[in-house]
Amino acid sequence: MKALQRVLMSSALLLLVDNAQALDGKKIFMEGGAQPGAMPCVACHGADGSGMAAAGFPRLAGLPAPYVRKQLEDFKSGSRSSPVMRPLAIALTQAEVDALSQAIAAMPAPAPAALHRSEMPTTAAQQLAWQGAWERQIPACVSCHGPAGSGIGDAFPPLAGQPAAYLAAQLSAWQNGTRRNDANDLMGHIAKSLTAEEVQGVAQYFASLNVEAKP
Ligand code: HEC
Ligand code: HEC
Repeated sequence: MKALQRVLMSSALLLLVDNAQALDGKKIFMEGGAQPGAMPCVACHGADGSGMAAAGFPRLAGLPAPYVRKQLEDFKSGSRSSPVMRPLAIALTQAEVDALSQAIAAMPAPAPAALHRSEMPTTAAQQLAWQGAWERQIPACVSCHGPAGSGIGDAFPPLAGQPAAYLAAQLSAWQNGTRRNDANDLMGHIAKSLTAEEVQGVAQYFASLNVEAKP
């Protein structure tokens, strides 16, 4: 009994020590997590977290910490299906997820392009993004994703500057049900209402709204 108590005591102490040491999220990003399979994020998301457009790997820099945490949980649970991210998310401890989310949120994000409301939408994609298509119950993308797609609060991620291939892939994932992770299936409803042409159009439009990508 004494022995068992001692073991319990020492593991409780270990836990305390563990929690007391704040993990370095940037280090995990660059070097990977402690458990096998927790690959460094830098390999695919870039040292500055700006992603890899050609491969369709999303930018992470500046994403809100609660959004990052939620996505990692959704990859784990499978409500957002990704054969690449699932094993990586599973390999992370909760403390590593917390540290990574904070570090990612603190990475400088590209400044969003300035858009003026007085500008009139000239293409069908711009019209969809700014005004939606009410006859099909599609609200304007910017009403949730912010002016110029720069994101709003913790729940509505930025679209501006994400690779077009990534944005289009996410919309298709909602269309075919492999991403079904938003609370009220708002995005599911919206994505399913878009034609293939519209998916490509809005993806390219939001991808182009990245001042850093312009000369
Ligand atoms: C082998 C390449 C690879 C590595 C390594 C990798 N990722 Fe990813 N990540 C991806 C891909 C591909 C996606 C897009 C998944 C999809 O299709 O939904 C993604 C998506 C994400 C997203 C969702 C972004 C969004 O806008 O919704 C987050 C968050 C993320 N990764 C975090 C991480 C973290 C944290 C690490 C390091 C622990 C990491 N990734 C390591 C390839 C990778
Ligand atoms: C009613 C609010 C709402 C509207 C309108 C809306 N979205 Fe979303 N969208 C969301 C939410 C919430 C998420 C994040 C879901 C989650 O938790 O993963 C999201 C996520 C996304 C993502 C994934 C981003 C990433 O980093 O993985 C894409 C792409 C997207 N929306 C495109 C669009 C487009 C294009 C439109 C307009 C046709 C649009 N959205 C309109 C609420 C909205």
